[in-house]
Amino acid sequence: MPAEVITIASLKGGVGKTTSSYALCAAAAAVGLRVIAIDLDPTGGLSNALERAKRSVTVIDVLHGRVTLREALIDHPLGIRTVVSHRSLNDESPSKEQLDEMLVDVRDDCDIILLDTHPHEPSLVGPMGAADRIVIPTALDILSLRAAALTVGLAQQLEVLDRIRGIVVTNAKRPLSRITDSLLNGLTLSGLAFETVLWYSPGWVVATSGRGELPDEELLTESKMLLREVATRPSPTEALRQFVGMAQGRRPKPAGAVTP
Ligand SMILES: Nc1ncnc2c1ncn2[C@@H]1O[C@H](COP(=O)(O)OP(=O)(O)OP(=O)(O)O)[C@@H](O)[C@H]1O
Ligand SMILES: [Mg+2]
Repeated sequence: MPAEVITIASLKGGVGKTTSSYALCAAAAAVGLRVIAIDLDPTGGLSNALERAKRSVTVIDVLHGRVTLREALIDHPLGIRTVVSHRSLNDESPSKEQLDEMLVDVRDDCDIILLDTHPHEPSLVGPMGAADRIVIPTALDILSLRAAALTVGLAQQLEVLDRIRGIVVTNAKRPLSRITDSLLNGLTLSGLAFETVLWYSPGWVVATSGRGELPDEELLTESKMLLREVATRPSPTEALRQFVGMAQGRRPKPAGAVTP
C-alpha cells in the first residue's frame, strides 16, 4: 500500500501544529511504521524540534529538482526520516502537483508521510490538496477555534473537507475552567474533536525543544491514541460543515430543510 499523507494544518500560529506533528511521527515510529516527516514551515518548527536533523540539504533543493526526496532524507533517532525546511518557502508555497511529484519517489517505501505546515492560507493549499488525512490542531480559546473553523472552510473551498479526520485539542491545562470544559465537551460531543487531547505537559516542551530528548512513555501513549484515531476515524463531514457555518455566523439548517 502506498504511504498515507497526513497534513497538519491551521490558519493560526502557535496552536500546536508542530507538537501534533512530532507526536504523530513519534507514535508512528514507535509502533513500527515507516515514517517520513517533511517540514513545510519556513520558520522551521519541526526542523528545530528534530534538532539532530539539521543539515544543509533542504526541501527547497528537492522542490527545485537538485536532489530527489530520497537523497535528501536523513535519519532521526526517533526512527523517522526527515527533510528540513527552508526560509524561501515563505516566497514559494509548493502546489499539490509539486508535492505529489516530490512524494511519488518515496510513497511505496514508507507507511506515513507527515507534512507540518505554515499558518498562512497560500501555504496550506498544496499540503491540504496533497493530503489523504488532515488534522487540525486548536487550543481551547475562541480565537483559535475560529481559526480552526476558517481552516475547515478553506478545506471545503478546496473540496477536501472529507479528508479532515478531526480537530485535536492541544496545550489544554488541567483542571479545565468551566468555559474550557464546555468548549471541549461541545467539540467532542459534536464529533469534531478527537477523543485524545494533547494535554499541556512540560514534557512536550522538552521533547520538541530540539535537545534530542525523546517523548516519555506517558506522552507516547497519548500520541499512539491520537494516531489510532487519525488512522481509523471517519471524517465528521456534517459536523465540519456546521462548524464552518457557525464561524460565519450562519445557523445550521435543520436536517431536511429546503433552501427556497
Ligand atoms: N501539549 C502541549 N504541552 C505543552 N506545550 C505545548 C503543547 N502544545 C503546544 N505547546 C507549546 O505551545 C507553543 C506552540 O506550539 P507549536 O509550536 O506546536 O505550535 P505551532 O502551531 O506549530 O506554532 P507555529 O505556527 O509557530 O508553527 C510551543 O511553545 C509549544 O511548546
Ligand atoms: Mg510549527
